[in-house]
Amino acid sequence: MIIKDSHIPIYFQLEMEIKELIKDLQPGDPISSEREFSEKYDISRMTVRQAINNLVNEGILVRKRGKGTFVAEPKVEQPLSGLTSFSEDMRSRGLTPKTKILDFQVIPSNRSVAGKLMIQEGEFVYEVRRLRLADDIPMALETSYLPLSLMKDLTKEIVNASLYDYIENDLKQQISHATQTLESSLSQKQESMLLQLKDGAPVLLIERYSYLGSGIPFEYVKSIYRGDRYKFVIDMKRANQ
Ligand code: GLP
Repeated sequence: MIIKDSHIPIYFQLEMEIKELIKDLQPGDPISSEREFSEKYDISRMTVRQAINNLVNEGILVRKRGKGTFVAEPKVEQPLSGLTSFSEDMRSRGLTPKTKILDFQVIPSNRSVAGKLMIQEGEFVYEVRRLRLADDIPMALETSYLPLSLMKDLTKEIVNASLYDYIENDLKQQISHATQTLESSLSQKQESMLLQLKDGAPVLLIERYSYLGSGIPFEYVKSIYRGDRYKFVIDMKRANQ
């Protein structure tokens, strides 16, 4: 219900109303058109558009050109406390992880990568670019730098499956901890194409440095995650508790 003389803006009331309505719908189901909403609640098309735009920006609805507006797939909730792999994250949600290798090569490390991996500049590293998918939907683009000396027999087939699985189960090394940063950004042309986003769509830039039990860094990864598919969850404790 929409109360016109409320101090709560009408577009916001409509957003709440639509959120309620779609609880009974499935991802991919269409919602009413702007005209239908405007007639049903006797409000202007502009107000309806504003409410729908906000829900599209929140990742709750998706617009498909010439087709209408639909209920979006729910975002993947990613806890930030445990050190998990992409394959584990997707499987734990009942999704099938897939990988498309965009680049796999051995290169001499530049100063920046060498510094991050605590190796000498010029030491060889694998540079692996992977598009990560869940149930065939592109989720993230990852560029990993891995010291050659730590994993001499790494292959495309291995990184097509799971890097962490290989390190733990084939190399029998313990993955101990990682440091990760998150920043918001907008997708660039090539990223948009690979992640099936519009140019300039919101994305999250994530950098991770991961270490073996011995304290040696084994990967430096730069990832671009789709902003419309991810929600990061952090559990927090107050310091004095
Ligand atoms: C996540 C991390 C990457 C890590 C990857 C390993 O996506 N952001 O830093 O390299 O998991 O995943 P997998 O073992 O599936 O290759």
